[in-house]
Amino acid sequence: MENHTDDPSSLMIYTENLTRDFGGGRGLHGLNLAIPQGKIFGYIGPNGAGKTTTIKILCSLYRPTEGRAFINGLEVLPQNAAKIKQIVGYMPDNFGVYDQMSVWEYLDFFCAAYHIPTKKRESRIRSVLQLTNSLHMIDYQVASLSKGMTQRIGLAKTLLHDPQVLILDEPASGLDPLARIEMRQTIARLRDMGKTIMLSSHILPELAGICDLIGILEKGRLLAFGSVDEVTRQVQENLKISVVCESDEAAGDAKAVVSTLPGVQMPENHANELHFVFAGARSDIPDLLRALLEQGIRVVEFKEDQTDLEQVFLSVTHH
Ligand SMILES: Nc1ncnc2c1ncn2[C@@H]1O[C@H](COP(=O)(O)OP(=O)(O)OP(=O)(O)O)[C@@H](O)[C@H]1O
Ligand SMILES: [Mg+2]
Repeated sequence: MENHTDDPSSLMIYTENLTRDFGGGRGLHGLNLAIPQGKIFGYIGPNGAGKTTTIKILCSLYRPTEGRAFINGLEVLPQNAAKIKQIVGYMPDNFGVYDQMSVWEYLDFFCAAYHIPTKKRESRIRSVLQLTNSLHMIDYQVASLSKGMTQRIGLAKTLLHDPQVLILDEPASGLDPLARIEMRQTIARLRDMGKTIMLSSHILPELAGICDLIGILEKGRLLAFGSVDEVTRQVQENLKISVVCESDEAAGDAKAVVSTLPGVQMPENHANELHFVFAGARSDIPDLLRALLEQGIRVVEFKEDQTDLEQVFLSVTHH
């Protein structure tokens, strides 16, 4: 992705060349994100793509090896960690449960951790339980909660200090379809209250309906960023075609022919192969082949290559 030029101070989450190198190509590489206030950003990528790494950097749990991150204009640095904690509500992918406590005691414990005054705690706890449709669980033992209930209480905990930004790592993982719908409704309600929300998933359809923006990450690199429609268009517009011709000379002739056709970009030939990008519709691809054949070029193989983005898009959309 190209560098963006947005003013960091107008954005709730902003990163610039954010990198965490774990060696061997693993980690996160040159991430540029710009999430305005009040939006839901879906961070999509297969297992090991670097979603949790990004989230941990944003929550001051990992230091980047390069680049910078900002939350509400404040740079994520150790000296700002306390302030960032006040702005951000973070729900990790696996949060510890404190089995020998009731839901009320669990939330009260975290109120103390967030220095919420004793007098205000009861109303805060009731309000976050209401927001997550879990008020009826107030006296349940944490150990007795189902996965869906645990996720709701985890989200309630994240809301205790009324953060402006919510960063939720795989909030819908392990939930049944009904619990997933409820989680989505709760997240949409929180956005309608003005909160900025970043949530990760390795499945796009799980999130597509509620996200204002999505980013597709693979092997630590952001392959696409924008609205669901924009990203879908990027996938469709990025058609890569490769043609194998009978001879090196035929590939040179083929290059000359396709160069005159509308929508053909960056034609390059190597030996008897020709590669180019086609910015037209997929349904027009057969016309390209016809143009070559009409010019007497002997084509051995003609095919559309999947782009990296398309491969990842297929893997995250075909669950
Ligand atoms: N502390 C660490 N030390 C070394 N390598 C790490 C560390 N944390 C993450 N990695 C590596 O960085 C890559 C990205 O991991 P990350 O957990 O961010 O992926 P993810 O997108 O959250 O995946 P998942 O969908 O499985 O949660 C992986 O290859 C992982 O092995
Ligand atoms: Mg993860």
